[in-house]
Amino acid sequence: MTFRAQHLLGIEHLHPTEITALLDLADSYVDLNRGAVKHSDVLAGMTQINMFFENSTRTQASFELAGKRLGADVMNMAMQASSIKKGETLIDTALTLNAMHPDLLVVRHPHSGAVDLLAQKVNCAVLNAGDGRHEHPTQALLDALTIRRAKGRLHRLSIAICGDIAHSRVARSNIMLLGKMENRVRLIAPPTLMPSGVQEFGVEVFDNMQEGLQDVDVVMMLRLQKERMDGGFIPSEREYFHRYGLDAQKLAFAKPDAIVMHPGPMNRGVEIDGTIADDINRSVIQEQVEMGVAVRMAAMDLLARNLRDRRAGASEAGVMV
Ligand code: NCD
Repeated sequence: MTFRAQHLLGIEHLHPTEITALLDLADSYVDLNRGAVKHSDVLAGMTQINMFFENSTRTQASFELAGKRLGADVMNMAMQASSIKKGETLIDTALTLNAMHPDLLVVRHPHSGAVDLLAQKVNCAVLNAGDGRHEHPTQALLDALTIRRAKGRLHRLSIAICGDIAHSRVARSNIMLLGKMENRVRLIAPPTLMPSGVQEFGVEVFDNMQEGLQDVDVVMMLRLQKERMDGGFIPSEREYFHRYGLDAQKLAFAKPDAIVMHPGPMNRGVEIDGTIADDINRSVIQEQVEMGVAVRMAAMDLLARNLRDRRAGASEAGVMV
């Protein structure tokens, strides 16, 4: 089998063949999800725990739905109300949950690296649902599946990622994935929202939309992440929309068949004009949500297979995993 990973913590350590294997499997889950009976039993008997230490709508909902459609027992921990508030450390919480024998842990955390740390303390498969500004692998994978289905390929495309790149784990995971699959990635942002060390990413950097969007196949907009900003990154939202917000005029610089993406949640009128977001001829934002469920099903299916193999190997050798 081509997908060997034990956890899905980021795109950084995935091989292009693993990415392709996961997307191929996700395609089959898109078909299942469009059918009348949206159910399989590949996770039957397994327990999935979702731990979201940060707010989420679509990511949490789609992980929950994905687990249920695959037949797992799914539990959502209300982290706002958990013992973390009473001072328990992340590691203690992880060890407590681990004692309940989960098979899949889905974790979102505001600190970069927290999910990796947790994965070292538990003996089940861990999926990173977003850690700080670091990685959001399932988002990049669902974006890749959306692009591959819309464009018929996932290589030699010109893709612009625009907006608040500095605070975005979505951008980081996408830059890595799209680069591994041999696409040309362009980053467009005001200098204050461009991360430092961007030169090492193997991307082209622009600070204006007209130049950056020239003839691209894909326009990926990012939310202005106000909760991660501590003041003066932009002069005003109105000015930001004027210079960097995607509207029909700016979209005209891209290829005539360029698609428009956004991971959500959107700030309409800040980074994207509402009419562009709703234009079914250009925007694939709803497809991204649909692909999100399929990609998460594929990721959990593959990790569960590896977990079963590891446990079978370990029990033959007489050790616990
Ligand atoms: C993103 C996230 O949480 O990183 N949203 C998502 O998962 N759909 C992007 C964002 O919050 O702007």
